[in-house]
Amino acid sequence: MCNKCKGNFYITTPIYYPSAKLHIGHSYCTVATDAMARFKRLQGYNVMFLTGTDEHGQKIEDKAKEAGVTPKQYVDNIVEGPGGVLDLWKLMNISNDRFIRTTDDYHVEAIQKIFKKMYDNGDIYKGTYKGKYCKPCESFWTESQLIDGKCPDCGREVQDAEEEAYFFRLSKYADRVRDLLENTDYLEPRSRVNEMVNNFIKPGLEDLCVSRTSFTWGVPVDFDPGHVVYVWIDALFNYMTALGFENQAHNDLAEFWPADVHFVGKEIVRFHSIIWPAMLMSLDLPLPKKVFGHGWLNFNGEKMSKSRGNVVDPYVLAEHFGVDALRFFLLRTFPFGSDGNFTNEMLISTINVDLANDLGNLVSRTIAMAQKYFGEHLPAEQLSNPEMDDELVNLVATLRDRYEEQMEHFAFQNALAEIFKVISRANKYIDENAPWALAKDEANKPRLAKVLYNLLESIRVCAGLLLPFMPATSEEIMKRLGNPASDWDSLIGFGLLNPEVAAVAGPALFPRIDMEKELAVLEELSAQAKEPEEDPLPEPLPEITFDAFEKVEMTVVKVLACEAVKKSKKLLKFTLNDGSKEPRQILSGIAEFYKPEELVGKTLVAVTNLAPRKMMGQISSGMLLSAERGEKLNLIMLDDSVPAGSRLV
Ligand code: MSP
Repeated sequence: MCNKCKGNFYITTPIYYPSAKLHIGHSYCTVATDAMARFKRLQGYNVMFLTGTDEHGQKIEDKAKEAGVTPKQYVDNIVEGPGGVLDLWKLMNISNDRFIRTTDDYHVEAIQKIFKKMYDNGDIYKGTYKGKYCKPCESFWTESQLIDGKCPDCGREVQDAEEEAYFFRLSKYADRVRDLLENTDYLEPRSRVNEMVNNFIKPGLEDLCVSRTSFTWGVPVDFDPGHVVYVWIDALFNYMTALGFENQAHNDLAEFWPADVHFVGKEIVRFHSIIWPAMLMSLDLPLPKKVFGHGWLNFNGEKMSKSRGNVVDPYVLAEHFGVDALRFFLLRTFPFGSDGNFTNEMLISTINVDLANDLGNLVSRTIAMAQKYFGEHLPAEQLSNPEMDDELVNLVATLRDRYEEQMEHFAFQNALAEIFKVISRANKYIDENAPWALAKDEANKPRLAKVLYNLLESIRVCAGLLLPFMPATSEEIMKRLGNPASDWDSLIGFGLLNPEVAAVAGPALFPRIDMEKELAVLEELSAQAKEPEEDPLPEPLPEITFDAFEKVEMTVVKVLACEAVKKSKKLLKFTLNDGSKEPRQILSGIAEFYKPEELVGKTLVAVTNLAPRKMMGQISSGMLLSAERGEKLNLIMLDDSVPAGSRLV
């Protein structure tokens, strides 16, 4: 640790599955972690911020196969390729100190040693795995853990699985883990503790299957070829191997372990609050100080996913609204511990109200007035008026403490609310003091100078504390104020700014967005981004004999007339030439797909030996053949040269 530092602080994000491009929901946790890391640096801590990618597992192996490349090529492209994970974090201004890939050699070797250590101490043993496996989640479940027979995490179908496998004695640590959860602050928010204890520990913790033999893309168990280490063991230990645990690539373990906090999404709290501490207990290692389970972001009330065509692509959003605005929105709008609903309207209105109106206007109005009334810099002669000034001055002077209190509890939304209370108060202070009126009389100049100074000092403190959220904006505002002190010690109290401050104007920090116009653009982009979802194939029917098939009479028919059936939304009535002398009448439930007039004259196929039946009081003698998949329906139409009455064989 450096002499001047307050201490060490180690913070992590979950390492991402590079199984698909990341959406804005994935960025949420990394942006929050970045804000926390920058806050701690601002406070004066020596920070280690780790993120990375979790690259093993069957899902990746399958995806690579589908793409016709090796798993390593597949993950390399998503992690390091253009528009990949590394590019995204660069774009989002993520200040991670280290990036781990679980395919890094040092990590793979360390995982092998860790697995062997737990095998040697008896906490990993060989047995047979019988149970259920959720492929997308790469999770094993017992029958009793399933919800309605499906994966309790994602609700998808699970498969039967049976194979020789290694197990970790999770059951042995049940009491210690329960004690950790119930009697310490290890897991936050507190509501997640009850969820873990009631859903997983009380029903009985079973030993965990920690190796697989049905695929190869994983860390091989070096003393038993054919087995690969369960992806979650591989993944969880990244938090330590990245610091040099069981490897020589890094050497920061003594400085940074145990971690101060792991930020994780709510669905992986189970792994971090039960399995992770149990494995550390098995190896007699210090436990992380805290796991914080944040909520999920939905989009317009639905789960986020690219295939839904939502504009949740962080690249698109950042290009349209700017990186800082996007970072700000994520942390200003949603309480970190709860779920939130992302909408484009909310994003635009947050930018317009908080950033364009409140912050942006405060900065541009104040600097414009300072330049207009005083030119290059404010004069040293300034006149206070405690009655008018004290409320704002006190609010600014004590802001850092209120902000810090919220940040220490990861309450980003509340910390920002404290800053924006000051920004609003400062805007009101402009109206109360009406600098434009003061400027009319030369005698008021010292008072006018003080009013503008108070505003510029308020802006400095707010911009300094906004740094963890909007690093580029904070820097830009400081530049406009002539780069005054903005370290932690300078952000408490009032009056540190040089009275003769030389402020420089610049373009609008956050131009106002035309809501209607921008929503239309996003709508258009959303439609373009939509990857059509394939309708599922219909269930296959039981086999029939050739004889049975031959008994179906399929005849070519021509449409003589077609009309809607009164009072029925679905039925069309066809008069058909089936090659015989008498016209045939068939009713067909296809009114939502075709207009009657467009079918007259068409050559279709009908089953003509079906027993007639009555529909809406009318006889239907047969059935028109159509092709159906999902919501779509197409009548089978033939070339008009095929004569009516021809038989399909
Ligand atoms: N690889 C594991 C983590 C291993 S950590 C030892 C994993 N990866 S993930 O890519 O599927 O998810 C990474 C993180 O993104 C998780 O914390 C998850 O909760 C978070 N999110 C994914 N979609 C999200 C939202 N829509 N909203 C908020 N967070 C979301 O899990």
